[in-house]
Amino acid sequence: MNGCVRAEVKSRLISLSLNVIMRMIAEKRFYGEEGKSGISEEARQYWKLVEEAGPAIGASTLADFLTVLRWVDYKGFNKKLARFQKGRDELMQRLIDEHRSKSKEEGGLLAAGTSTTSETIEWAMSLLLNNPEELKKMRDEIDLQVENEHLLEESDLSNLPYLQCVIIETLRMYPSAPLLLPHESSQECSMEGFHIPRGMMLLVNAYAVHRDPKVWEEPTKFMPERFEGRKRGGKLMIPFGMGRRQCSGEGLAMRVVGLALGTLIQCFEWEGIGEEEVDMTIGGGGLNLAKAIPLEAMYRPHQSMLDTLKKL
Ligand code: HEM
Repeated sequence: MNGCVRAEVKSRLISLSLNVIMRMIAEKRFYGEEGKSGISEEARQYWKLVEEAGPAIGASTLADFLTVLRWVDYKGFNKKLARFQKGRDELMQRLIDEHRSKSKEEGGLLAAGTSTTSETIEWAMSLLLNNPEELKKMRDEIDLQVENEHLLEESDLSNLPYLQCVIIETLRMYPSAPLLLPHESSQECSMEGFHIPRGMMLLVNAYAVHRDPKVWEEPTKFMPERFEGRKRGGKLMIPFGMGRRQCSGEGLAMRVVGLALGTLIQCFEWEGIGEEEVDMTIGGGGLNLAKAIPLEAMYRPHQSMLDTLKKL
């Protein structure tokens, strides 16, 4: 494409998600602060901590199964976790001091809502880049439903069913918390012939549920159409978990992902870098399902959105 610029997409999506959560819990921006450009030093430090501790935050490690490994701090996970917790606590303490807030929930929100959201958008963009027909279908829907003079708004989302299908299909294939969060059995019970003692760590493999070939037609294929007409045909999907501990940020996450993804497609034309498809390898370890290679792509402003973009 002529006039295209190369963009590293991942860090921008992280900044977006971090901003949404930080503005919600601390009325503070991390990125694009008035009079300043780029990401703030605080955000850089926080992200460094997350990246370093990422694999250690994983729900289970070999040490959970071979208890002897706990004595030797297998792969240094305990140290990494302790460092992450200390750094995160210091950051939260600063924010709490700043805002004289006593809420403890904030630390959890911050961690739960950032990488899950940014990674979902990153996977969705990667899937669309590898599937130009679906990308075109989404862009046509936006062009038809959203007048070009205005940037996509929250109220437009209900008129964009294909965008919703793309998001749901992305969450099916790449649920950002593939093992949900570790749960614990509160009582002894048995399930499908298995005896489960009280106090047992229980992991739900949402990734496997979403890709079960006995349930899903061509489970590894990106097919947003399978959700058209709001149909799920009784198939279980649990990207946000279920029950009492299910994700409390689901509503916010669906809006942020919809707005960000929709706006990226509305405003810009996108292409992969070079001839090769975007690499979809999953990165190693951790609670989240991150891409092994951060997404980079070529983009240029969509002709019909030039005037709107100039006004921003
Ligand atoms: C696409 C984005 C997101 C995905 C896929 C996601 C997924 C999940 C999952 C799977 C769980 C564990 C549920 C379980 O174990 O049963 C969870 C928990 C949680 N999520 Fe999210 N989440 C997302 C975004 C958010 C956002 C934006 C927030 C905050 C605004 C948030 C806040 C939380 C909290 C606080 C919990 C813990 C709930 C509890 O233990 O009671 N999440 N999320």
